[in-house]
Amino acid sequence: MNNYKIYNIDCVHGSKEQIPEESVDLIIADPPFNLAFGGTTQTKTGKPRFSITQNDNLEFKEYMRFTLKWLNEAYRILKKRRHIYVFIDWRMYAYLSLWMKRAGFIIKNLIVWDKQHIGLGHHYRFQHEFLIFAVKSKDKNRRTKCRSTSDIWRIPKISNHKLTHPYEKPVELMDKIIINSTEESELVVDFFAGCGTVLSACINNNRDCIAFEIDSYFYDLMKRKFPELE
Ligand SMILES: C[S@@+](CC[C@H](N)C(=O)[O-])C[C@H]1O[C@@H](n2cnc3c(N)ncnc32)[C@H](O)[C@@H]1O
Repeated sequence: MNNYKIYNIDCVHGSKEQIPEESVDLIIADPPFNLAFGGTTQTKTGKPRFSITQNDNLEFKEYMRFTLKWLNEAYRILKKRRHIYVFIDWRMYAYLSLWMKRAGFIIKNLIVWDKQHIGLGHHYRFQHEFLIFAVKSKDKNRRTKCRSTSDIWRIPKISNHKLTHPYEKPVELMDKIIINSTEESELVVDFFAGCGTVLSACINNNRDCIAFEIDSYFYDLMKRKFPELE
């Protein structure tokens, strides 16, 4: 029997309260990219379907402080030799990789998620997102399970009209991360749960999961969506 928990609270605050040092087998983080994006899907009135998510429209220095805070907390709770995956887009990648190193992580690769559909953009339309793959310590890091997997992942994005969250990721993406970086019953932590994609993948693959989501609308949505939650 696996354990699944979500908290409607700031991830740093929640993690400090709930998660002991070096107790987590895998961290997946899909943070706000600070692009003030409410999604491209529009209502009949022409307004975006979603409002801007929290911490997605900060002054640069404030965003840096916010990011370093959650990265330091992620470093505290992750077991040595284990993996962290952080989603980011090309506009914020340079900063995020620096900040991850500052928190102590060692970046091992940059996975390109090919969404297989073009999005917005004027000078070549966007079709990819980045996924930074990093570890906590230098020596004897755990290997990813599938040795033949390349660092380009072709997984179709969810079509706009089916999204329940402006940044919703396909569960297949999270399945792949979880299968490659953990064993059954190990603990996965998601700092920015959104509509619960990591949680879905943990349920699919019998991993324990602790997730944090600051927005009560999305927290309630997950509570309704997952009867497995305590
Ligand atoms: C990029 S979205 C994650 C989407 C998610 N991967 C999915 O597939 O649904 C980031 C989420 O983090 C939440 N968030 C922002 N700041 C937070 C914080 N300090 N603690 C917890 N959640 C936060 C936002 O409300 C938003 O739902």
